[in-house]
Amino acid sequence: MERRRIVAGNWKMNMTPAKTVELIATLRPLVESLDVDVVFCVPAIDIVPAITATRGTNIAIGAQNMYFEESGAYTGEISPQMLKEAGVKYVILGHSERREYFHETDEELNKKLKKAFEHGLTPILCCGETLEQREMGITLDFIRMQIKSDLNGIPASKVEEMVIAYEPIWAIGTGRTATTEQAEEVCKAIRDCIAEIYDDATAQSVRIQYGGSVNAGNASELFAQPDIDGGLVGGASLKPEFGKIVNCK
Ligand code: 13P
Repeated sequence: MERRRIVAGNWKMNMTPAKTVELIATLRPLVESLDVDVVFCVPAIDIVPAITATRGTNIAIGAQNMYFEESGAYTGEISPQMLKEAGVKYVILGHSERREYFHETDEELNKKLKKAFEHGLTPILCCGETLEQREMGITLDFIRMQIKSDLNGIPASKVEEMVIAYEPIWAIGTGRTATTEQAEEVCKAIRDCIAEIYDDATAQSVRIQYGGSVNAGNASELFAQPDIDGGLVGGASLKPEFGKIVNCK
């Protein structure tokens, strides 16, 4: 089965609402593509202006986080319904920065995934090992544990529509990208893990991205790997270079 490539920008905590509109005006003509899904995951306050600025284009808007309750006394949080009504299609869940700085656990992520599916949002679930874990030789064990805990109780019909991003923590924002072999090895292991939990059809349908210092120079080779279906891009998604990454052959 042919999986459609998906390239998403994770803007992290960058860009004010006004800057968002400017950046989208710059990037919009550069990311036009007929055969790649293009997503901008913007800060919460930028979602509404980003939706307006991308109307009628091929760019979908994603959030960078979401809470697992519907509404109520959760000061500072954003509900799936709020995202949905605003026009958001994707939501990054479990980015390593959220796991590390905001102490998000796999148990919470499991609840967030279920809620996102319930509201028709497509999760981009992040996983990835630390340098220490890689050096200890437990990368694949750790990733499998994250995937199995995060997806616990979620049916195959949902998993086949989702996106999983493999982001080795040591490659994020460091300029030190994983080698193509390292990236493919883990993305394949993730697909094998999905086949193990569910079945081959689900594993063949889920899209798996690589993230961590993706740039215009390394994207082609990474995305050409059999189990890598695109990228989750941080720093380079804020620059015209993102157009080259989207359209790399
Ligand atoms: P960089 O592309 O800046 O390394 O960030 C990767 C990332 O964390 C995307 O979610």
